[in-house]
Amino acid sequence: MKTYPRTGQGPLVLVLHGPNLGALGRRDPGHYGALDLDQIMDRLAKLAGELGLAVEGLQSDAEGDLVEALLAAAGRGVAAAVCNPGALAHTSYAVRDAVEACGIPVVEVHLSNVHARERWRHHLAVAPVAAAVIAGMGPASYDLGLRAAADLLARPA
Ligand code: DQA
Repeated sequence: MKTYPRTGQGPLVLVLHGPNLGALGRRDPGHYGALDLDQIMDRLAKLAGELGLAVEGLQSDAEGDLVEALLAAAGRGVAAAVCNPGALAHTSYAVRDAVEACGIPVVEVHLSNVHARERWRHHLAVAPVAAAVIAGMGPASYDLGLRAAADLLARPA
């Protein structure tokens, strides 16, 4: 597990990365781009400053860590989450249930266009309970995910 401490001021957005996303930069750049996770989080920290948000991050290869982070989020003041569940997006009803139960808007992001890849990646277990889904923009999927979170937080309750 790797954590990225809070940076910026404003409503807090938690950025969650699931299994194998710690290996970005070494994984197929044709699907995932050339940036590693530290570089993606640096970009997000800068963008958060422009959007008037704070961000913090967590990458874990363990499903339970993502579930715990989601369920704890609202109670410690997290306003929204951007989540790339990795392959758990296709298989994990535990992450799906945590997204549904967490009480904050969750934007699901994927670097690659999962709909244009192997058939098993077309099934999305978490997406039906996400506030929005962004896929296929490479590292910019995370930027767009943060912008989507900002937009959702600016909407009247
Ligand atoms: C991914 C797509 C998943 O199918 C894959 O298992 C990943 C990364 C993406 O960001 O494109 O690990 O979530």
